Amino acid sequence: MTKTIAWGITGAGHFLRSSFEVFTQIKSEHDIRVNTFLSGAAEEVVRMYGLENELKTISCGEYLEEIIPETKQGKSWPKTGRFLLDIYDALVVTPATSNTVSKIAHGTSDSLVSNAVAQAVKGGVPVYVVPVDIAGVVISELPFAIARELCRKCDFCPPRDSCPCNAMSDQIDLLKCNGCGICKELCTFNAIKGGPVELKVRDIDSRNVDIVRDLEGITILERPEDIQGILPLI
Ligand SMILES: Cc1cc2nc3c(=O)[nH]c(=O)nc-3n(C[C@H](O)[C@H](O)[C@H](O)COP(=O)(O)O)c2cc1C
Repeated sequence: MTKTIAWGITGAGHFLRSSFEVFTQIKSEHDIRVNTFLSGAAEEVVRMYGLENELKTISCGEYLEEIIPETKQGKSWPKTGRFLLDIYDALVVTPATSNTVSKIAHGTSDSLVSNAVAQAVKGGVPVYVVPVDIAGVVISELPFAIARELCRKCDFCPPRDSCPCNAMSDQIDLLKCNGCGICKELCTFNAIKGGPVELKVRDIDSRNVDIVRDLEGITILERPEDIQGILPLI
């Protein structure tokens, strides 16, 4: 029988690509519908990392396979009422920002994804959360940016002139950037950067993860790849 998974995406660069890879893989290997709930920040970050089109192949737009963007919802989050209707087999939040983990930990439900978690627990839908900030140091990924020390400010600038989003001036406007990477390929001075960065996890974020670990109906997963392991359980 077809399973229906609700996927909550929040605005984290860390674990974003691997979350997409896992959902693409499980869609190809299992009879699964994926209904996506995008936080407002995720709407921006998914675009910055060039993943908008890939998302449309995971959630095709049919009923229970829609992409539900936070910025198009009312503030009472009427769409999350679906979690009370016995139509979802699980809600998976990946990646989960420290912001959303904090909201879940403290019972706040004033955003689309935190509200989805609250309704899912009330509706008996198992919730799985993949926090980006668990402990220690994490390797995240930065979106594209201009390294000013390398930029020669050329009059004829192929990255700027070829940008399909018109996102480049003396810096990259990330709210316009679609993460296609053409600029990085075209700059002969290697002045477009983006990629791995090491970040320290804050103590408060670790503690919030521990609080969520103890909440009823919610399971913490260490990384997106662990989602494969829950499929036999739902
Ligand atoms: C490119 C980019 C990458 C980000 N990556 C992260 C991240 O890895 N972890 C995190 O907690 N916040 C990250 N943020 C910040 C969140 O998007 C921001 O805190 C936002 O308010 C989270 O809202 P949400 O939890 O509703 O999605 C990132 C922001 C940008 C612009």
